[in-house]
Amino acid sequence: MKFSMSEYKQKSKYTMSVIYLLQKDTRCNTNGMEVDETKVRVPLLFWIPILFCGVLLFFADVLEHQFTIRFTKSLFTTSGSFEDRSLAGFTISNPGCKIPYMDPFDENIAQFIKPPSKPMCNNGKPPLFASNLTSIFLLETSLPKYNVSDENELKCCYKPFWRREPENGESDNKVVVDSECHAFQKNTDITEEFIIVNCTYDNTTIYIDTFSFVPLKNTTGIGTGDKKLNVLLIGLDAVSRLNLHRQMLKTVNYLQEQEAVELLGYNKVGDNTFPNLMPVLTGLFEEELKSSCWPSLTDHFDNCSFVWKLFKERGYLTVYGEDASWMGLFNYQRKGFRKQTTDYAYNYFNRFSEELIGNSHVMNVFQCEGGRLIYKDLLDYISKFVATMNEKSLPYFGFFWGASLSHDNLNMPNIGDQDYYIFFKKLLDEKLLDNTALIFMSDHGIRWGDIRQTFQGRMEERLPFVYLLLPKSFRQKHFVAYENLKVNTRRLTTPFDLHETLLDLANTDLLDEENLTYTNQSRRGISFFRRIDKNRTCEDAAITSHWCTCQQSEQINITYTVTEAARSVVSNINYMLRGYAQCAELALDEVINARIMRPQMTGDYKIFDYMLTLRTSPNQAVFEATVRTTEKNNSFEIIGSISRLNLYGKQSLCITDFHLKLYCYCKKLLP
Ligand SMILES: *[C@@H]1O[C@H](CO)[C@@H](O)[C@H](O)[C@H]1NC(C)=O
Ligand SMILES: *[C@@H]1O[C@H](CO)[C@@H](O)[C@H](O)[C@H]1NC(C)=O
Ligand SMILES: *[C@@H]1O[C@H](CO)[C@@H](O)[C@H](O)[C@H]1NC(C)=O
Ligand SMILES: *[C@@H]1O[C@H](CO)[C@@H](O)[C@H](O)[C@H]1NC(C)=O
Ligand SMILES: *[C@@H]1O[C@H](CO)[C@@H](O)[C@H](O)[C@H]1NC(C)=O
Ligand SMILES: *[C@@H]1O[C@H](CO)[C@@H](O)[C@H](O)[C@H]1NC(C)=O
Ligand SMILES: *[C@@H]1O[C@H](CO)[C@@H](O)[C@H](O)[C@H]1NC(C)=O
Ligand SMILES: *[C@@H]1O[C@H](CO)[C@@H](O)[C@H](O)[C@H]1NC(C)=O
Ligand SMILES: *[C@@H]1O[C@H](CO)[C@@H](O)[C@H](O)[C@H]1NC(C)=O
Ligand SMILES: *[C@@H]1O[C@H](CO)[C@@H](O)[C@H](O)[C@H]1NC(C)=O
Ligand SMILES: *[C@@H]1O[C@H](CO)[C@@H](O)[C@H](O)[C@H]1NC(C)=O
Repeated sequence: MKFSMSEYKQKSKYTMSVIYLLQKDTRCNTNGMEVDETKVRVPLLFWIPILFCGVLLFFADVLEHQFTIRFTKSLFTTSGSFEDRSLAGFTISNPGCKIPYMDPFDENIAQFIKPPSKPMCNNGKPPLFASNLTSIFLLETSLPKYNVSDENELKCCYKPFWRREPENGESDNKVVVDSECHAFQKNTDITEEFIIVNCTYDNTTIYIDTFSFVPLKNTTGIGTGDKKLNVLLIGLDAVSRLNLHRQMLKTVNYLQEQEAVELLGYNKVGDNTFPNLMPVLTGLFEEELKSSCWPSLTDHFDNCSFVWKLFKERGYLTVYGEDASWMGLFNYQRKGFRKQTTDYAYNYFNRFSEELIGNSHVMNVFQCEGGRLIYKDLLDYISKFVATMNEKSLPYFGFFWGASLSHDNLNMPNIGDQDYYIFFKKLLDEKLLDNTALIFMSDHGIRWGDIRQTFQGRMEERLPFVYLLLPKSFRQKHFVAYENLKVNTRRLTTPFDLHETLLDLANTDLLDEENLTYTNQSRRGISFFRRIDKNRTCEDAAITSHWCTCQQSEQINITYTVTEAARSVVSNINYMLRGYAQCAELALDEVINARIMRPQMTGDYKIFDYMLTLRTSPNQAVFEATVRTTEKNNSFEIIGSISRLNLYGKQSLCITDFHLKLYCYCKKLLP
């Protein structure tokens, strides 16, 4: 399974042009480029500036492109023990919801599985310093790489930096760097949280790096010693359940050996990261935040009831951290917080570090900060955090989200498999999770690219992974809750359920056996620790038809009705773009694919939902939408949002509304 040369060239061109755009956008103009949405394959138009920004990367890329057939083979031979196939073609098979069994290595998917190229940080120049829990120390082996022949002439110093509280309406991405640089030799203890290290040799700066630590902070009101259950949530952006099983087998096998419980019917409820994580963190839909705590995009998030606030009230220390945080949950075209929302926050470190020493930029993300991989730095920070909390017996709630590894590419998670495996193994081997509920999860599968135009790719996008690893003590003490969890692995579940689960974990008294005898099945979210009914439908669980994976569907021919339904999608898009004179009107080019869901009865008539994939002109955009029609009348109704399956890149630079960027094709691009 090799890239052909032409494919490879195309890929490089594409990577490079996007790099240019993004560097421009991340640094100069926060409105410019959409991130969490999709981008278009851009022709190589501005190749002179690209040479400046991309040439280093290009070479890094070439060197790493040594594809081995071995890689693919090993993937295909280890799929044997994937899961119990006894459900006769279904992963979930209940009256309310049937989700078909899908093979992660299905032949229709195999063509998209390619060995990813390993990022090359700083062109292969290793860091000069490393850190542990309390110190930074010189890596003597790196000295030759920096041409340092006389160690005594190496002058290094560090400066602390910290978050600066934003003004009203100001973005939450500011830090203050201390003016004083503290000189040191070889190694030094660090008591600050975030530092910049700067070394000069022969009067030239030869090294700049950043390090994060977990110093003890104010612990007044923190309930030490009363053995609260810690909660550690670790997320990996845009990884479907099946893609985890394809790309991160070592990690998966290890978690399964440790008896982690995997939810097989976890169905997303919104398009991208934000609408799938807000339900987890607040129990609310994105739209509901507006009335509850976040009136507009220009407001900070301080008034929202994030689940860590509950943990804080219950005497926990809290931490929150993302990489690629320029496009983070609360930061991408949003204002973040006024008051820091958690006791510890890695985002401020990450943002500053990426701006200062980010490198190996591909599509939306920096893969490296200095000589280190960014996703690994996040894992290292988590390890430091967990070790510190354990050492001092401080109860904690942690929410961490990694996007730099997996946000943009179906195959990249494979690069992180070994590191995630080692990360989990070390935590468990060192007995750091003996009193911790670990949740390892994603928000959705990959949302665009060729795989999304297959049926399985579409299903996978809607079915992210969730693993829960509970300590032995919990399993024994809350036996009924644990049994319920295991039953619920074969039920339809959602991010709202995960929210309820977190509420239960904040107060495990709620999980006493007597408290589990009755479960209100009418609630939108039901904790994984409570029995979820077999007849739960997408509607019961607040999953709109567009995202629902339960419905049986079949491919159909492109009939007159299908074409009319597709036209209604295009009209709908044009309607959304009304009032944006800078966007061209779209027309239906082709219906690429159509499926019809098994008709549902509503009252006395049948509902027909069509799932359509279509292309529009002049933008050559591929969209996916669910269109409903009934036996009663011939009108078409769009259910849920209209997804864009290919990249839009510069097509919509003339518009800032990030929902509409998916659809707008700027008129000035018309010939
Ligand atoms: C951290 O590194 C310093 C300097 O090398 C060393 O003295 C210290 O023992 C290390 N601490 C831990 C916890 O490993
Ligand atoms: C180190 O010295 C070599 C030989 O003079 C030179 O090619 C290389 O660029 C230098 N490296 C750095 C990091 O200055
Ligand atoms: C590093 O130190 C040099 C010399 O003190 C200074 O000129 C430079 O601005 C520093 N760089 C950073 C990023 O702090
Ligand atoms: C380093 O810079 C300082 C101040 O600019 C200067 O006085 C000194 O001579 C320089 N040293 C070397 C070795 O070039
Ligand atoms: C520590 O936190 C407590 C409770 O939040 C607060 O009352 C106290 O002023 C804080 N102490 C310091 C030194 O910040
Ligand atoms: C948050 O709540 C406070 C107090 O109710 C209010 O004054 C403030 O305007 C609210 N902020 C936002 C962004 O809603
Ligand atoms: C059940 O939950 C309530 C809180 O809703 C709690 O007070 C009680 O201790 C729990 N356990 C039992 C056995 O009722
Ligand atoms: C069950 O939940 C629904 C929806 O939240 C609520 O309206 C109803 O009152 C609840 N029933 C019971 C018995 O708590
Ligand atoms: C689902 O099953 C429960 C009992 O298991 C029953 O009470 C409820 O009415 C059923 N709901 C539907 C929609 O069939
Ligand atoms: C779809 O079209 C093909 C070829 O035109 C035809 O053989 C087939 O019967 C059609 N299927 C349906 C369900 O109409
Ligand atoms: C068609 O029927 C649906 C479902 O009853 C209804 O929501 C919609 O308003 C109807 N449309 C027209 C044009 O009557």
